[in-house]
Amino acid sequence: MFNTLESKFETLFHTKEHHNFFAPGRINLIGEHTDYNGGYVFPCAITLGTYAVASKREDTKLMLYSENFSADGVVECDSTDLTHSTTYTWTNYVKGMILYLKEAGYTIRTGANIVFYGNIPNGSGLSSSASFELLIGVIFKGLYQLDIEMIDLVKLGKKVENDFIGVQSGIMDQFAVGMGKENHAIRLDCQTLEYTLVPVDLKDNVIVIMNTNKRRELADSKYNERFNETRQALKELQTRVSIQTLADLTIDIFEANKDVLSSEVLVKRARHAVSENQRTIEATEKLRAGDLVGFGELMKQSHLSTELDYEVTGKELDTLVHTAWEQEGVIGARMTGAGFGGCAIAIVQKDKVDAFQQAVEDVYVKEIGYKPSFYIAEISNGAALKQ
Ligand code: GLA
Repeated sequence: MFNTLESKFETLFHTKEHHNFFAPGRINLIGEHTDYNGGYVFPCAITLGTYAVASKREDTKLMLYSENFSADGVVECDSTDLTHSTTYTWTNYVKGMILYLKEAGYTIRTGANIVFYGNIPNGSGLSSSASFELLIGVIFKGLYQLDIEMIDLVKLGKKVENDFIGVQSGIMDQFAVGMGKENHAIRLDCQTLEYTLVPVDLKDNVIVIMNTNKRRELADSKYNERFNETRQALKELQTRVSIQTLADLTIDIFEANKDVLSSEVLVKRARHAVSENQRTIEATEKLRAGDLVGFGELMKQSHLSTELDYEVTGKELDTLVHTAWEQEGVIGARMTGAGFGGCAIAIVQKDKVDAFQQAVEDVYVKEIGYKPSFYIAEISNGAALKQ
């Protein structure tokens, strides 16, 4: 991958001096829409991701080229003018990261030449945006030898998403992309940011990513709608119980107090946040103990909760996941990421993968009218300088 990007870089910028960087995407095994509700998540970084070849410049220009937006050519910006761009929206991730690094006191005196390429399908819910944010983070840390810890790049990435891009996302994606470890999942407490790495030993099984190939056009506004609904539910519950976040509630305490909520919709949203947090805690223990069947059962419950209570799945994801549950050799399946289209995951016996994909594809094409895509997930390390 880097070879092709390096030749592109040399052709565009006429220099052989550069460094290579990579930032992964992520899947979430369980713990959906719990991060901004103060709960646990259980993601891992994957080998699909975003690559860059970059060098420092003498002037303050940012010369940005992406193979994914090749029609834009080299987009020229300036590191002293980091205003939001309405034309080349992909460059906003670059601008936002540099702006917040500077605001946090890190010195970036000049610009950079950068060639990018990402193989995370856009809008697939595998965190192409967090991958891009953390990639910029490690590029500028690397080029300018910034004395910044990964956890601080993670927090800046979230700030870019929330304040520069305008999505009220939690910290899961940036954390997984920044802190991921090969063959491990991250059990993260999103309230305290304490985390443990749990080995993912799936025995004779693999994780199959199933892409609905439905673009999430409304994702951001619906995402913010869920964010606001759970904030409202929290406020109303706080008039009765002393809690900081919805994740502070057990299911029993929630059930005993849910009558304080002003609508059935808020009951459903809050019930998802509370029950999903509980499931995530249980599921991480099951995986640690090697109980894959128990883990798979919790994946199923998790999907049903996102489908029925949080209502973020939709026909495409439900078709993939419900069909997956019916196939031989499937331990568990659920949507992953924000929902509203995007991807689902399934844990499938290795020697059944081909039959599984064919069967799911047949049903999906019949129900939805176009093909899904499948990838085998390999669990990767977090964002880093590669040489
Ligand atoms: C998106 C957000 C995350 C998280 C998930 C849902 O990926 O970026 O912060 O909320 O949705 O779990």
